[in-house]
Amino acid sequence: MATIIDGKKLAAEVRGRAAERAANLMTQGVPCGLAVVLVGDDQGSATYVRAKLRDCEECGIPSQDFKLSEDTTQGELMSLIERLNADPSIAGILVQMPLPAHLDAEQVVAAIDPKKDVDGFHPENLGKLVRGLPGLRPCTPAGIMEMLDVYGIDPAGKNAVIVGRSSIVGKPMSLMLLARNATISVAHSHTDPCELARICQSADILVVACGIPKMVKGPWIKPGAAVIDVGMDRDEAGKLCGDVDFASAELVAGSITPVPGGVGPMTRAMLMSNVCLAAELQHP
Ligand code: GUN
Repeated sequence: MATIIDGKKLAAEVRGRAAERAANLMTQGVPCGLAVVLVGDDQGSATYVRAKLRDCEECGIPSQDFKLSEDTTQGELMSLIERLNADPSIAGILVQMPLPAHLDAEQVVAAIDPKKDVDGFHPENLGKLVRGLPGLRPCTPAGIMEMLDVYGIDPAGKNAVIVGRSSIVGKPMSLMLLARNATISVAHSHTDPCELARICQSADILVVACGIPKMVKGPWIKPGAAVIDVGMDRDEAGKLCGDVDFASAELVAGSITPVPGGVGPMTRAMLMSNVCLAAELQHP
């Protein structure tokens, strides 16, 4: 049976370190505020934002919560970003995605001061990732790298397969594993479905972020592989599940992240680390 990678426990440790770091920074007069911007009434997004604000409270990181109505204009949102960029008490800015369809998310992300971009979505920060330079990294793949490290899974020389190519997870994940000397394959919606199982079977490290409930089954997994499930889906019964069929996968994998209790808590914890890093970057 696979080792269960305990994201909840690791996340608590990461939050503990972030709390200490934030306290030290604030003692030195370095502000560590996080601004969280939510536009519209999406219930899923509202839940994520509440969780992030709770994490801030636990870590002693001051947070400011901006709830904007569904009909907010691009100009209004851009003015808020400008105001937050200029506010010295704000170390980090997070705009919860997705934005309502009438808003241009690319323009919003590009307007955030790269030093305050705690999501690591700004083109400058993604560029640094491509170039192998230090900077703010997207929270989900950063949390996954932390989990691999703590569980002694060294990507160097391994075959890593990433299923999904989003800008938030798949693309930065592939770059981070590449930077740690893994051999990378990225499967996506245009990958030949007949090839998908074979591609997954080649993985020593398999990261699944495709948003399809239980798509990856046990027989797709190389015995002993590390399986990282980024999915947050509902099964036929409406029960929370991942993109990996956990019951069949845990019989084959060497280690596996559960859903819930795996990648999700680590993603949130890495946000707290990123707020500290952002504060440090602004006060070198
Ligand atoms: N929506 C889903 N994941 C994320 C995330 O990591 N950051 C933001 N800002 N929005 C999201």
